[in-house]
Amino acid sequence: MSLEGKVALVTGAGGMRGVGRATALKLASLGADVAITDVRRPVDDLPPGEVRAEWQSIDSVAEEVRNLGRQALPVYADLSDGEQIAGLVAETVNHYGRLDIMVNNARAIIGRDKVPVTELEEAVWQHFLAINTTAVFLCTKHAGREMVRLGHGGRVVNIASNAGKQASADGAAYSASKFAVIGLTQASAMDLAPHGITVNAVCPGPINTDRMSYWEREQAARRGITQEEFRSQVVAASAERTPLGRIAEPEDVANLVAFLAGPDAELITGQSYNVNGGILFH
Ligand SMILES: NC(=O)c1ccc[n+]([C@@H]2O[C@H](COP(=O)([O-])OP(=O)(O)OC[C@H]3O[C@@H](n4cnc5c(N)ncnc54)[C@H](O)[C@@H]3O)[C@@H](O)[C@H]2O)c1
Repeated sequence: MSLEGKVALVTGAGGMRGVGRATALKLASLGADVAITDVRRPVDDLPPGEVRAEWQSIDSVAEEVRNLGRQALPVYADLSDGEQIAGLVAETVNHYGRLDIMVNNARAIIGRDKVPVTELEEAVWQHFLAINTTAVFLCTKHAGREMVRLGHGGRVVNIASNAGKQASADGAAYSASKFAVIGLTQASAMDLAPHGITVNAVCPGPINTDRMSYWEREQAARRGITQEEFRSQVVAASAERTPLGRIAEPEDVANLVAFLAGPDAELITGQSYNVNGGILFH
């Protein structure tokens, strides 16, 4: 499968072990040039491994993409701001002259949402909806308009979650934001179908990323272990509950994104596919 000549925009692409980075590298390895975006995060909001490695977010990912022989355009933007989203899409199209693939991967930093609904701060709820849902809508709107105008068709791939199909306790904001992404995926698939643009969602189960979680940091501190030690316990426990015996690596998710972004997925639209080792079937 080749994505030669295609241009992709990937949000939330700056994490050293994140799905966004894995997706940008996968699409580039198949021949696409990429625009990659992330917000500038304060050191306190970064996973410890990134701080130790002096990881430079999308600038580091851009270097990796260029090492694969493809072009990279890193653009810092805060997806809670609609004007920055419009600017991000415009900058991508001005730079490359086209936009074929929009991957909506960013999400609000998790942890503060992990409380019963009766304890959930309205500001946390609003922030989750803003980054996990409204930003996906606005990226689809602006990227979709450009794809329609340019007339080459296109692909939108939204990273939802198993939590967008089956909610858990202490997950009201996250689940609501991801259920909404699945609805948005179906509606925009129908709106954009006449233009040869497909819109699909990928729904991962737990992924072995080193994502920042305020909840995991707090739990680690309570137990007197490092955040990374606690994280590996979480990953091991999730793997034990998974029929295939391990949780997803970022690359497992990126592989499905690349398929949905490619020519072999031409007739697939409005779908929401799980990547989860068998923990949920619908
Ligand atoms: N990690 C998991 O276990 C898991 C499980 C199911 C689904 N997912 C989904 O997969 C996707 C990727 O997960 P991940 O663990 O790689 O993500 P992550 O938690 O590392 O976050 C993704 C990126 O979003 C960015 N971001 C946060 N706030 C932003 C803002 N205001 N503006 C712009 N960017 C912002 C972060 O900086 C980060 O690089 C997400 O949509 C997530 O919901 C993840």
